[in-house]
Amino acid sequence: MTLILGLETSCDETAAAVVDERLAVRSNVVATQFDLHERYAGVVPEIASRAHLEKLTPVVTEALAQAGVTPRDLSAIAVGHRPGLVGSLIVGVAAAKALAWSLDLPLVGVDHVEAHLSAASLRGPGCEDPKSGAQNTNPIPIPEPRVLYPALGLVVSGGHTSLYRIHAPRQLERLGGTIDDAIGEAFDKAAVILGLGYPGGPRIDALARRGDPQRFALPRPTLDKHSLDFSFSGLKTALLYAVRGHPVGRGKDAAFQRDHTDHDEQTLADFAAGFQAAAVDTVTEKLRRALHLTQESHGVSPWAKPPRSLILGGGVSANSLLRKRVQEFADHHQLACHLPAMDFCVDNAAMIAGHAHALLADGDTHGLDLPVVATTRA
Ligand code: KG4
Ligand code: ZN
Repeated sequence: MTLILGLETSCDETAAAVVDERLAVRSNVVATQFDLHERYAGVVPEIASRAHLEKLTPVVTEALAQAGVTPRDLSAIAVGHRPGLVGSLIVGVAAAKALAWSLDLPLVGVDHVEAHLSAASLRGPGCEDPKSGAQNTNPIPIPEPRVLYPALGLVVSGGHTSLYRIHAPRQLERLGGTIDDAIGEAFDKAAVILGLGYPGGPRIDALARRGDPQRFALPRPTLDKHSLDFSFSGLKTALLYAVRGHPVGRGKDAAFQRDHTDHDEQTLADFAAGFQAAAVDTVTEKLRRALHLTQESHGVSPWAKPPRSLILGGGVSANSLLRKRVQEFADHHQLACHLPAMDFCVDNAAMIAGHAHALLADGDTHGLDLPVVATTRA
C-alpha cells in the first residue's frame, strides 16, 4: 500500500490528508481561518502565515490519527508549493521538508491548480456520489470512473479561473484564464456588496436559491468573440451600481445613493441570483467556445482527437448552479463529467496527496531545495 501524507497551506486553509494509491482518502483534515479574516472581508497574508504555523502540527497529527497510521507507514510527503501566498506556502513546505528528511521519505512538490483538477478523482468514505448526490455510507469509497483523455479542464477558485485542454495525465495546455478578478474573488466581493460577509461564495449560493435571476439583468462579460479568457470585474461593478446606484459627485466627494441595507431581503436574494446566473453563464459560454474553437480553429490549435471528458475543480465548483449547468453541458456534448465531491472542492490536502501519487509513480520527486513560488501560468 502506498500512502502519501499531503500538506496544504497556500492560502487560508491549514490542511493535511492521507491518500492511498487507489485515490481513496483515508483522512482529510482542514482547519479554516475564516474567523481570523472575516472582519477584513478577505485574507490578510501575515495573519494567514502565523495561523498556519500554529495549526499545522495539530492538523498533521489529527490526519495521521484519523487515517489510523503512524509516520512509519507513509511512502512519501507531498506539499503544495505553488502558486499561493509566499509566507503561507513557506510554512507547509518547511514542514514537509522536515518530515521527509527525518523519515527518509521522498518529497513531492505539487502545483495547487493542477491538484484542483485531481480532486474529482478522489473518493472518501463519507463522500457523496457526484452523479446521484447520495451520501455513501459504506466505508468503501465509490470508485470514480477513470478519466478518459483528451479532456477539457476548468479550475474555478478564489485565485484562479483557468481553462485547459488536457491531452493526457499531467499534459496540460492552458487555453485561457482571468484577466482581472478570479471568479471566486468576484463572488466574495459581490457578497461584500450585498452585506453577506466572508467567505462570500457559499453565502451567495444559499441566498440565490430564494432569488429570481431574471429580475436584474447583469452583463455576461465574454470579451471579444473568440477569447477564451475571463473577466469578472465588470460584472462586479455592474452589481455594485445596481445595488448602491451610480455614485454622485467626483473624487473624495463621491457618494453612493444607497447601500444594501436599503433593500428588502427578497431584493437582495434577486441580486444574488442575478449575479450568480451571470457568472455561471459566462463560464459555460467559455466551455462552449473552447469546444467549438478547438474544433474549428480560429487561432487555437484543433483537438488531435475529440475531447472525451470534462473535469471541474476549485472552490467555486461547490456552487450548486455551476455544478448543474456543467453537468448539463457535458451531457449535451456527450462528455464524461468529473465533478469533485463537495469535501474536495475548496482547498484541501487530499487533492495534494492524490495528485502526488501520479508524480511519485513517474519518479517526479524533489530535493530539499524545493522552492515556493507565488504565481504560475500552468
Ligand atoms: O479553491 P479555493 O478554496 O481557494 C483557492 O484556491 O483560491 O476557493 C475558494 C473560493 C472562495 O472565493 C469561495 O467564495 C468560493 O471558492 N466558493 C464558492 C462556493 N464555495 C466556495 N463560490 C460559489 N459558490 C459556492 N458554493
Ligand atoms: Zn485552491
